[in-house]
Amino acid sequence: KYKMILDLDTGVDDALALAYAVGAPEVDLIGIISSYGNTLVDIAAQNSLDLLHLLGADDVPVFIGESHSSTTDHFDVMNISQLIHGKNGIGDVTLTPSPRQVEKETGVDFLIRAAHDYHEDLILVPTGPLTNLAAAIKKDNQVAELIGQTTLMGGALTVPGNVTPFTEANIHQDPEAADFVFTHQKNLTMVGLDVTLRTLLTKNETAEWRHLNSEAGEKFASLMDFYIDAYYNLDIDKRGAALHDPLAVAVSIDPTYITGLPLNMRVTYNTENGDYGRTIGDKTQLLAPTTSKAAVLVDTDRFVKDFQNMMLTVLK
Ligand code: BDR
Ligand code: CA
Repeated sequence: KYKMILDLDTGVDDALALAYAVGAPEVDLIGIISSYGNTLVDIAAQNSLDLLHLLGADDVPVFIGESHSSTTDHFDVMNISQLIHGKNGIGDVTLTPSPRQVEKETGVDFLIRAAHDYHEDLILVPTGPLTNLAAAIKKDNQVAELIGQTTLMGGALTVPGNVTPFTEANIHQDPEAADFVFTHQKNLTMVGLDVTLRTLLTKNETAEWRHLNSEAGEKFASLMDFYIDAYYNLDIDKRGAALHDPLAVAVSIDPTYITGLPLNMRVTYNTENGDYGRTIGDKTQLLAPTTSKAAVLVDTDRFVKDFQNMMLTVLK
C-alpha cells in the first residue's frame, strides 16, 4: 500500500481532500501537515484534527507546518479566502473538537523522516502553498529524489488564474517556494485550475450527503453548501463549486483521471511585468528530459461520479 501525506491549508475543498484520502482503500494516510492559506496554520491544523475526529480517523497524526512564506515575515488571510471558506476556513461550521493535539514534531521534519522511511512508496499531495515542501528540500536535499510522487493542487497553465490573470491562489501565497519545488522535486504532477475548474459539485450531491442522516454527512453538507453559495454569490461559477483539492488526491491514486502534458516548468516572481506567480514552461529546458507534468484535461464525469460515491461511503 502506498503511504500518503496531505499538506493542507484546511479550507472547504481541503476538507473534501482529507475525506477522500481517509476513504481511499488504495492508500494508507500516514499524516497531515498543516499549511497557511485559506486560514492561519494553527486553525488549519485544528480543522484537520476535528475533521479526522468527525470521520472516525483519530489515528492519523497532524503536524504543524510553516506559518508563512520564507520571503515574508507573517501571513494575513485574504478577504476573498474568508468569503469562500468562511472565517474559520470550513464554511463557519462548528465541529466537535478533537480530543487530540497536534504532534510535537514539525511538519517539515515529519516530511523529511517519511521520505527516508518510505522512499518511492510515499505519495505527497500538497493542496496549499508549497512552503513546507520547499523548506523540507532546503533542509535535506535528498527529499526531492526520495518522495515517490508529488501531486499538487495549484497553478494555471491554459486558463487564467483566480487571484491575478496568471496566478492561482496556492502559488500566489509563495511563488518562490513553488518555483523551487518545480525546479527540484522529481515526479511532480501539477493539478491546476486547467482541470479543477472542470470538476464542479452542486447542492444535488450535498443533499445526498445530508440524507445519510449522519453527523459527518450533515457537517460536510453544511460546509460545502457555504462554498457553493460563495461560488454563486461571488459569480465565480453559478453552476457549482470546484473540487480543486480532492481532484489532486484522486489523480495521485489514479493518474488516468487526467491527461498530463510533460513539461519542465517554472514559477515567475520578482518580475515587474505583472506575471507574479505564473506557472509556465521553462524556455531553457524545452529539450531537456521531463520529470514533471501539468494536467490539461480531465475525465470530468468519471471523477465527479467516483468522488460522490467515495463521499457517500466515507460520510456514512
Ligand atoms: C486553491 O486555493 C485554495 O483556496 C483552495 O483550497 C485550493 O487549494 C484553489 O485555487
Ligand atoms: Ca487548499
